[in-house]
Amino acid sequence: MNIVVLTGAGISVESGLRAFRGPDGLWEGHRIEDVCSPQGFSRDPDLVYDFYNARRRQLQEFDVQPNAAHLAVAKYEHEHPNGFLLITQNVDNLHERAGSKQMLHLHGELLSARCIDTGRTYPWRGDIDRFTPHPENPELKGRLRPDIVWFGEMPMHMSRAESALKKCDLFVAIGTSGNVYPAAGFVSQTPKSCRRVEINFADTEVSSSFDERLTGLATETVPAFFESLVQ
Ligand code: APR
Repeated sequence: MNIVVLTGAGISVESGLRAFRGPDGLWEGHRIEDVCSPQGFSRDPDLVYDFYNARRRQLQEFDVQPNAAHLAVAKYEHEHPNGFLLITQNVDNLHERAGSKQMLHLHGELLSARCIDTGRTYPWRGDIDRFTPHPENPELKGRLRPDIVWFGEMPMHMSRAESALKKCDLFVAIGTSGNVYPAAGFVSQTPKSCRRVEINFADTEVSSSFDERLTGLATETVPAFFESLVQ
């Protein structure tokens, strides 16, 4: 069986990371377009650097750990590695820390910095700002940006994602609001015969495209769902 699991911010909420679209429409107190767009970055780079520095630091706090949902996805993959792909929109590393291996980060990674000039990326745990020396040339300063896909930029790994979707028998979307394309359209790219399951706390923009919907907290519904698959 070929399975594609798509995850969004909702899977990491119970690990202590806020979702993007809170009830106030803000992400950690900021308008999404201010901190998630190339225009926002050119307008106020310091604000954007500070914002991602704070997210990067938070991700490395001791109490931010993979939760039961991340662990259930990784366990399923470990036991059924053939034909499995995890596609995450999340920029945290909680799936990797839970043990997931065959996975794509569609929207980039917090623990990575990207050279504005070459597009080359570097593992990164500290802060980045307008004066950060380039890892390959310390004389060169301020040419790094967060390795995050912003609105208007091309998501990463799209061809691998699309070829897995085309042949998938089971598509499971967990904790994503269905607001942001192309990921929101993945459910509609699966074959007719595919079983499509949405796991979310609430209704989403694309709920009607799924065959089954499991409503509840990710830490409860995701482990129960993967156990039901095994039985
Ligand atoms: N369990 C299950 N679902 C949950 C939980 C939980 N504990 N908490 C929240 N959710 C659900 C919400 O109901 C919502 O549908 O998770 C979803 C989170 O939605 P968003 O905040 O919009 O996150 P996401 O869909 O990942 O956003 C997509 O938008 O800003 C961009 O690039 C950013 O990758 C992000 C993209």
